[in-house]
Amino acid sequence: MASKTVTFNFETINKVRIRFDPKMVFTPSVFSRLLANNLIIKDQDIVLDLCCGSGLLAIVAAKMGARKVFAVDINPHAVYTTSKNARLNDVGNKVIAIEGHLYQPLGDRKFHLIFSNPPQTPIFSHLENRLDCIGRAIFAGLDGRKVIDEIIDNARNYLAYTPDGTQTGKLQLVTTSIIDFDKTVNRLKMNGFDCNIVATKRHLFRKEYYMVLPLINANLFVQDGGKFFETIYVTCSHMVELVSN
Ligand SMILES: C[S@@+](CC[C@H](N)C(=O)[O-])C[C@H]1O[C@@H](n2cnc3c(N)ncnc32)[C@H](O)[C@@H]1O
Repeated sequence: MASKTVTFNFETINKVRIRFDPKMVFTPSVFSRLLANNLIIKDQDIVLDLCCGSGLLAIVAAKMGARKVFAVDINPHAVYTTSKNARLNDVGNKVIAIEGHLYQPLGDRKFHLIFSNPPQTPIFSHLENRLDCIGRAIFAGLDGRKVIDEIIDNARNYLAYTPDGTQTGKLQLVTTSIIDFDKTVNRLKMNGFDCNIVATKRHLFRKEYYMVLPLINANLFVQDGGKFFETIYVTCSHMVELVSN
């Protein structure tokens, strides 16, 4: 019987070494690096990495002083890889990798910080059904907003409250102009978040996007003949709000 050859990729990002099978687990991208370089972690924070992939961001957070990092991914290979990479980087005792859909496996846990680099590229419905685990890491419904909107809409239920009843948890997201940044800001506002842009990066428009161009043209950040789009890292403090009793 012919044996299956698995090629592992190795990367070192922010002094974090990661090892993964690129056919099964998303390769950290410019989006991942933008978030990794701008994560704001307070010492002893309990944090949540939604859509953890190889575990890069969870490991960076653990190394920056988080007390515990819960890392969730729908892809079982990503969950396995995150655990392995956490041990490889000596933070295996801090990173808890869990398989599941977004917040679903978390019960009533609360976090000081939730961060995510979710899939956020639009895709035609008839192609979505055929995606493999790498496709599901990139594409997210007809408008690309399927995952990010669910993250934003449910975040407040998982953010920690202070003893005086004010909610102070934060949400940190990396997002892109191809899914319309104004829509993201409005969604955040609707959910009571105050939004700050922390870092912006411009990229060449990648070939992979050509097939979904009809879906994203209207929202695309066009510069130099449409060759660039923006990736924007935002941090959103939850607006302080009194809880009635
Ligand atoms: C863009 S990749 C980001 C991976 C990693 N955080 C990084 O920045 O390199 C998105 C990840 O989200 C995961 N994912 C997609 N849909 C999900 C869902 N509904 N719930 C949890 N994870 C999901 C994919 O399996 C993939 O690992």
